[in-house]
Amino acid sequence: MSDKSFIDNLISQMTLEEKAAQMVQIPVSAVGMEESLKWAEMGAGSFLNVFGDDIKELQKAAMEKSRLKIPAIFGTDAVRGHAENKDATIFPSSLTMAATWDRDLLRQVAAATAAEVATDGLHWDFAPLFCLARDPRWGRTGETFGEDKYLAGELGAAQVRGYQGDDLSADDTVLACAKHYIAYGEATGARDSYDTEVTFRKIRDEFLSPFRKAIEAGCGSFMTAYGSIDGTPLTANKKALRDILRDELGFDGIVVTDWDTVNYLVVRQKVCKDINEASRAAASAGNDIIMCTSAFYDAVIEEVREGRLEEKILDDAVRHILSVKLKMKLWDKPIKKGIPGSIGCKAHLELAKKAAENSVIMLKNDGVLPISFNKKIRKIAVIGPNANDIRAQYGDWTYFTHPLPGVKKEPARPYVTLLEGVRAQTEGSGIKVEYAYGCAVNRPDYHRETKDIGAFIDMCYEINEHGTDNYKQMPFINEAASLARESDLVILALGDNYTQAGEYTDRADLDLSGMQEALVRIISGFKVPIITVLIATKPLAIPDVVKRSDAVVCAFNGGMFGGEAVAEVLFGKKNPEGRLPISFPVMTGQVPVYYNQLPGWHEGRYVDCPKEPLFVFGEGLSYTWYEYSGLKFDAGTKTVTVTVANTGDMKGTETVQIYINDKVSSIMTADKNLAGFEKVELEPGESREVSIRLDDEAFEVTLPDETRVIEHGEFDIMAGHSSRDEDLIKITVVL
Ligand code: NOJ
Repeated sequence: MSDKSFIDNLISQMTLEEKAAQMVQIPVSAVGMEESLKWAEMGAGSFLNVFGDDIKELQKAAMEKSRLKIPAIFGTDAVRGHAENKDATIFPSSLTMAATWDRDLLRQVAAATAAEVATDGLHWDFAPLFCLARDPRWGRTGETFGEDKYLAGELGAAQVRGYQGDDLSADDTVLACAKHYIAYGEATGARDSYDTEVTFRKIRDEFLSPFRKAIEAGCGSFMTAYGSIDGTPLTANKKALRDILRDELGFDGIVVTDWDTVNYLVVRQKVCKDINEASRAAASAGNDIIMCTSAFYDAVIEEVREGRLEEKILDDAVRHILSVKLKMKLWDKPIKKGIPGSIGCKAHLELAKKAAENSVIMLKNDGVLPISFNKKIRKIAVIGPNANDIRAQYGDWTYFTHPLPGVKKEPARPYVTLLEGVRAQTEGSGIKVEYAYGCAVNRPDYHRETKDIGAFIDMCYEINEHGTDNYKQMPFINEAASLARESDLVILALGDNYTQAGEYTDRADLDLSGMQEALVRIISGFKVPIITVLIATKPLAIPDVVKRSDAVVCAFNGGMFGGEAVAEVLFGKKNPEGRLPISFPVMTGQVPVYYNQLPGWHEGRYVDCPKEPLFVFGEGLSYTWYEYSGLKFDAGTKTVTVTVANTGDMKGTETVQIYINDKVSSIMTADKNLAGFEKVELEPGESREVSIRLDDEAFEVTLPDETRVIEHGEFDIMAGHSSRDEDLIKITVVL
């Protein structure tokens, strides 16, 4: 029997109740196994937040006790490795890995993740995120691949290929999920799940591009975003889901809502008067699986019975679900086998280490790096709240923040913090390494006052007097200051932590929180060289720290081996090759600072803030130097060719970046947009010609009627080391 007749035949046997059940996804950890088992017997199509033996029990119930014996599909969030399981490999966060600009590395990381997820019996991973983070106040910035549509699309598509492999039914592959569709990161004020005031023209111009690549890569599922576009929630957005995603882009996989969003149509977004209306809206708009809102079941049945919703809409949704289940051969292989022994295995740990190493970004170096083992350095002070805190090093979406049911939130080896990494690098060298905590990261309530040292001292008295839990900070700062004063070098680990990022956790202020700024000011008074390492979920506004530091290295959230990777860069064991996937503001009010903004702003700056961001997209230093020459463009094949030379004396890996500018267009376009990139490893003195073929999309604009065209005329083609003008060479071509 063909797949189509198998599915038609099954749908023809399904009752209305069975179709509605197939569309429901049950959160097992929230409702418990007893209730989940009842749903499995009723024919629920899907479950999440469950693993191991519970999956087996639920699948058994679905396949033995439900009338039609349709297997269920089990999903999880493994966005940076299967990190909700404490035994699994914890890779760097997506933003961190984006700094590698390495498609194949991200594919490998996704493939390793898939094997581990499948080994826990799960079929479906709600990853990757194709949202752009163009306003770093957004709590979920660290889950993205940064601010640029091309980079996000390329890296996300590579991960889709890694998760799904060539065969969705293989033991070690899982179904990927492109989320959150669409423009979720662009919410007004960077408010998570809030309204997004963009037009569909803009959506097609910017935010659709990565999702198109998800479809090209064969991504089997999409998740709708929590938010709304110009007042219409995505959960009920027929134009986004049916007209564009299905009809135009031809997506034929599963569309799943986000967590309880059908209910939110009633209680939060208030566009539906009750759950019946909301269920009708969600089904009509084109959602196939309804995450968590189990009241959808009764409501949608009633809507069809009362003639307010056509049963055909449910048939279509069920067809999408069954087709994916068939591709996964769930009837023959109801439980994913995975690869026994692959969870946290040696090969995956090595991959996690490589991902961490290649994502370290050196942003400033006044000559103090790499640290040399000379007689001048006898004692190194490692100071700061994030130097020896694995939770801060991990960031969001691990077993600390989102444990699988039954998983404890206790640190589980193997991992290497920065302090441990520095100790390992100096072992046997005679250099003494000492550590001081300094201050806490997370004192948002005291944050304002700490900007001024005088006020800070006052506050310390106040803290002592009122006996708050934080009274120890003053002695901690004193201890750190004494250690710094008597050391030859200070490595300062600052940043944010997981309590300041994630869903529901947007920030109004991107400055360092707590007393970290004060700590830097005090320590920089001793004239001891300072290397600052930023361990953070996202860009922070740290101009003063940069000024007071001799070197700055951005590690973001490097996962298990983040600390080891940074230490290798600091001591010159590894030539840094990370490039920023996102720009850093000088101050929060400078946001947005993404590199490809539209031209036309009077003066192009705020009067009370520098013009340039602190660090820009694509930036990242190396211990060697690269020079570009011979830029050419072949208009026929749309291929850019450029020669890049390593002119320093250390082997290095350069990321060749190609930007283009449509010089005059009928609708405004950015002065530069990333259109291609390639990594190239070069020995000292070596030069290589690199050819990069550009997509047609790079030359297109979206017109007010939402059509996309290439407007013929002049284009600037730029190639170089970062998105900064001074790092790029340029030619003008006519298309
Ligand atoms: C809500 C989040 O927005 C989404 O990314 C995630 O996949 C679901 N919850 C399921 O946990």
